Amino acid sequence: MGLRRELRKLISRSARRGDKQSAPRLGFDHEAAAELAIPRVRDRTMIAHPALLSLWAQVRHCEVAGLPGAFVECGVWKGGAAGLMALANQAYSTTRRPLHLFDIFDNICEPDPELDGERALNEVKQFAGRDRTTLTGKMESLTGVYDHLGGPGDAELVERFIADELGYGREATLVHKGWFQDTIPVVETGPIAILRLDGDWYASTKICLDHLYERVVPGGFVIVDDYGTYEGCQKAVDELLAGLPQRPFLNVVTADVRYWIKPEAASMAA
Ligand SMILES: C[S@@+](CC[C@H](N)C(=O)[O-])C[C@H]1O[C@@H](n2cnc3c(N)ncnc32)[C@H](O)[C@@H]1O
Repeated sequence: MGLRRELRKLISRSARRGDKQSAPRLGFDHEAAAELAIPRVRDRTMIAHPALLSLWAQVRHCEVAGLPGAFVECGVWKGGAAGLMALANQAYSTTRRPLHLFDIFDNICEPDPELDGERALNEVKQFAGRDRTTLTGKMESLTGVYDHLGGPGDAELVERFIADELGYGREATLVHKGWFQDTIPVVETGPIAILRLDGDWYASTKICLDHLYERVVPGGFVIVDDYGTYEGCQKAVDELLAGLPQRPFLNVVTADVRYWIKPEAASMAA
């Protein structure tokens, strides 16, 4: 969506061309392995190259450190970021973790005109042709948002891509199609090692944090793709962080993406 998405698309195209100016080498260990994997998912993700490298390193850490828990993505679209998690797991572990993937897939819901900010409203107008006065802020599908990026995701295609093409297997690839508001509260994920939030808006981010944050294991990662992008997403995260005894440091990955590592329970005590 929007400039961010267009930028990602440009990055995506240049990455496919091997344009190292747009995807410069950082020179860290394990980068070569990530660079081999990223082209396999590049066409199926909007995420910028540095955020994919960071995700690879985070999965690797979970495997090498033996951190327990599932990998969870809320906001999957065509499955590129989730696919990279599947590939990184296979590169560093012989055991497949449950990979829980939540999305409505058909499109996205409306942003809330009161909470999600000017950028969200401008993009919705530009790409879905919906003026703010027509938005209800309710769980109504906003069609057309992803048309300029090749259309919305597809649950079956994502399952086939990750389970079969990338070899993660049907048993560990767990696709939950539906609004987060309906699926997240009822799906039993168990403990979570990586919680990756990519649902853009306030309501979509908040429902995930409300139900899933407590399941993230100490030392686990919480990645928020849209923290720097949309006011509503940032607000939902800041509300959660304001309620913690100690606000964790938000690591900067790109202009959009932030992550933090969930502290040990002892260090969270007031
Ligand atoms: C930005 S895309 C995800 C991008 C993806 N992670 C990638 O690798 O490029 C956002 C996705 O979140 C989904 N989404 C947003 N809010 C949602 C909600 N409340 N319930 C279900 N899906 C939602 C949209 O359908 C869309 O597929």
